[in-house]
Amino acid sequence: MANIHNFLFLIALFSILANIINPCLAFQEDRKVYIVYMGALPNLHEDQYSPQAHHNKILQNVLQGSVPADCLVHSYKRSFNGFAAALTNEEQQKIARMEGVVSVFPSTIYELHTTRSWDFIGFPETVKRMPVKESDVIVGILDSGVWPESESFSDEGFGPPPKKWKGVCQTDGNFNCNNKLIGARYYEQLLPKEEHTPRDVLGHGTHTASTVAGREVKGVSLFGIAEGNARGAVPSARIAMYKVCTLNGCSDESILAAFDDAIADGVDILSISLGPNLTFKYSEDTLAIGAFHAMVKGILTSHSAGNSGPQPQTLKSVAPWTFTVAASSIDREIVTKVVTGNGTTILGRAINTFNSTETVPLILGANASSTCSSAEAGSCLAHCLDEQLVKGKIVFCDTVDTGGGPLLAGAMGQIVEDADANDHSSIFALPSTRLDLGNGDKIKSYIGSTKEPQAKILKAESILDLKAPVVASFSSRGPNPVSPDLLKPDITAPGVDIIAAFPPAASLTRTKQDKRFVKYNIKSGTSMACPHVAGAAAYVKTFHPEWSPAAIKSALMTTAFPMNASRNPEVEFAYGAGQIDPLKAVDPGLVYDTQEDDYIQLLCNVGYSEKEIELISGKKVACGNVTGTARHLNYPSMQLLVEANKSFSNNFTRSVTNVGSPISTYKATVSEDPQLQVTINPNVISFKSLNEKQSFIVTVAGKGLPVTSVLSTSLVWSDGVHNVRSPIVLYTSINA
Ligand SMILES: *[C@@H]1O[C@H](CO)[C@@H](O)[C@H](O)[C@H]1NC(C)=O
Ligand SMILES: *[C@@H]1O[C@H](CO)[C@@H](O)[C@H](O)[C@H]1NC(C)=O
Ligand SMILES: *[C@@H]1O[C@H](CO)[C@@H](O)[C@H](O)[C@H]1NC(C)=O
Ligand SMILES: *[C@@H]1O[C@H](CO)[C@@H](O)[C@H](O)[C@H]1NC(C)=O
Ligand SMILES: *[C@@H]1O[C@H](CO)[C@@H](O)[C@H](O)[C@H]1NC(C)=O
Ligand SMILES: *[C@@H]1O[C@H](CO)[C@@H](O)[C@H](O)[C@H]1NC(C)=O
Ligand SMILES: *[C@@H]1O[C@H](CO)[C@@H](O)[C@H](O)[C@H]1NC(C)=O
Ligand SMILES: *[C@@H]1O[C@H](CO)[C@@H](O)[C@H](O)[C@H]1NC(C)=O
Repeated sequence: MANIHNFLFLIALFSILANIINPCLAFQEDRKVYIVYMGALPNLHEDQYSPQAHHNKILQNVLQGSVPADCLVHSYKRSFNGFAAALTNEEQQKIARMEGVVSVFPSTIYELHTTRSWDFIGFPETVKRMPVKESDVIVGILDSGVWPESESFSDEGFGPPPKKWKGVCQTDGNFNCNNKLIGARYYEQLLPKEEHTPRDVLGHGTHTASTVAGREVKGVSLFGIAEGNARGAVPSARIAMYKVCTLNGCSDESILAAFDDAIADGVDILSISLGPNLTFKYSEDTLAIGAFHAMVKGILTSHSAGNSGPQPQTLKSVAPWTFTVAASSIDREIVTKVVTGNGTTILGRAINTFNSTETVPLILGANASSTCSSAEAGSCLAHCLDEQLVKGKIVFCDTVDTGGGPLLAGAMGQIVEDADANDHSSIFALPSTRLDLGNGDKIKSYIGSTKEPQAKILKAESILDLKAPVVASFSSRGPNPVSPDLLKPDITAPGVDIIAAFPPAASLTRTKQDKRFVKYNIKSGTSMACPHVAGAAAYVKTFHPEWSPAAIKSALMTTAFPMNASRNPEVEFAYGAGQIDPLKAVDPGLVYDTQEDDYIQLLCNVGYSEKEIELISGKKVACGNVTGTARHLNYPSMQLLVEANKSFSNNFTRSVTNVGSPISTYKATVSEDPQLQVTINPNVISFKSLNEKQSFIVTVAGKGLPVTSVLSTSLVWSDGVHNVRSPIVLYTSINA
């Protein structure tokens, strides 16, 4: 799996520290960058409290002999309190024991995890819009930077940035913002000078930014493939790019610095398509920390679930105040056909941008080496393939790579076999297709059946996929590894074969031999799904600027299109509430609202001390009775981990706020499940005014469930116009 995903993003991941030329780090070998998280900023005037002076003082206290200025990597002081510093293990332990410190954790490297997709989810170009409000919405994106000259970011017809905007454009002289791309910052001060720019050389940030809020650009395609109009969800909205990722990946200290700035700069929505390799408790999870302080300021954070699926419990985004997004397919599948010499046509999942090859001899990589073992040669490693044996031929490879080996050896094309699910398409450096094992075996048996095997590889084409939407195999699955009683992912959105803007400076496969430079490119990943949800949230916000982040999220979850469980065996652990439906989300009827105090009670319930929570929130906290579970948060979905073989009966308390018709009556229905009794009390609720709240209790009861059971049903509140649907998921344990 890892192979494919690294390949999808083409990010070389090696330690960022290796490239840093920092005197403090160089001073002692065992120094590493740690994040010191100190919670909310104290409510004091700057004459009374200076965060940076406080950070320096803490460092002076623990550092002996070295210069604190070099050891302090970042001070977080605009939206929350804390710093990143190069520390020894002993020093970080000392700091962790200090008054005012919530947590100290080592910095890790994060991985970077379009547009028929909008039409597919029922969001056509012609939707009703609030153009004035839309042009006031600022979407902040934490990613690999942006290509400002892309047509998707042209500011033709745009007025000046909204008055609330306090951000900047950090230019290197060769990078300009405009009234569409209103801000850009970068954070890699420790890297070589040529990287001191918000400019995107990876392509990832340009792609995600144009998916959220790119303006409409007509007639784009990738060499004629996936032709159509590219557009973001909110083409009039403004974009602010926070470049936190480079070729080396993305670091905790940069991500936190970007949150610190974006919140203070005045963004309305955040879109973050990157994630760590591990999951952490909330107080040591950079994304959870940043998104918490964003939520306090009314900013919703959309975050990609991760690309570590389909194994269970592979989610990297778990905090209840973030919007966790899975990736699913759209009805356009991009395929590349291979035609064998005896006339058999086989479909593969590759985006072959090259014209059809001639019919040429076909050879197994394993038979094309005079120096390597047949296993190595079968993988088509560059140094193994024998130029004389493969020149002008199509090579069959047992493993997936960019195609550099066959290309260097002079092959005409390659057919690669991939053991992983073939449900998204990849781009290679030479004419290629990618087959599943069954189809790969067909080619091998054809090669074995004839003296002169031949084949040709056709140019890629789009075909209709009537099974969509289905969650992609790579999309990370639940259950939630941190809070077992909180359903994640929250929602799914298109993330397979998405075309969007791309920097023409990066070749398609980022290999040296690849000379294809394009302005629009096709990519797959939860990274591509996340900006769809950020854009949908921005769209909903233009109709309801006063709604809280939780209300917007609830609206998108309870109106989501139900996914087909028989095509997604991991059910809600794959897709959450379903596929986003932005048009419906504008008028959800009821919302499950949640405020900062509710999240504070949640932190109490899952075991944080009053003192820790007071630091995090900057508020006086009284936890009261703690329940030990996240289940009581007023969340738009319900999830419960129960003990196998034991009967159970548990309550969820929920409350809904009327945002539909002032006078209305909603009735509850729950789809029947023989293994589960679900009762709703009361099962009819009436409202006499807008914004009125009503509470109810959902009781789920059953006899002992076998181990590794997952049951799911849903609660729908309906007034005959609105159907407010919440998934209910019960499970015993998972086969991890
Ligand atoms: C992430 O984890 C996988 C599997 O444990 C490992 O192979 C990979 O190198 C890790 N990546 C990073 C950036 O640590
Ligand atoms: C590919 O085929 C098209 C249509 O036949 C032709 O116009 C184009 O020049 C060809 N491209 C290359 C690179 O050969
Ligand atoms: C090609 O490789 C296969 C398996 O790797 C082997 O069985 C076969 O004998 C080889 N054929 C030739 C002509 O070398
Ligand atoms: C081509 O050869 C393969 C392998 O021998 C065989 O399975 C297939 O049926 C043949 N196709 C045609 C059209 O004869
Ligand atoms: C769900 O998928 C199954 C299996 O592919 C299919 O038979 C069924 O018709 C689908 N249901 C809907 C509502 O599309
Ligand atoms: C806490 O629980 C105790 C015993 O169950 C109960 O008497 C008390 O009222 C509860 N306090 C609050 C604030 O709910
Ligand atoms: C549950 O019951 C089954 C069948 O009686 C048994 O094999 C299994 O070990 C039990 N599991 C637990 C966790 O009690
Ligand atoms: C669960 O809710 C029902 C009302 O629907 C109530 O009668 C019961 O006491 C509650 N159980 C617990 C454990 O709170």
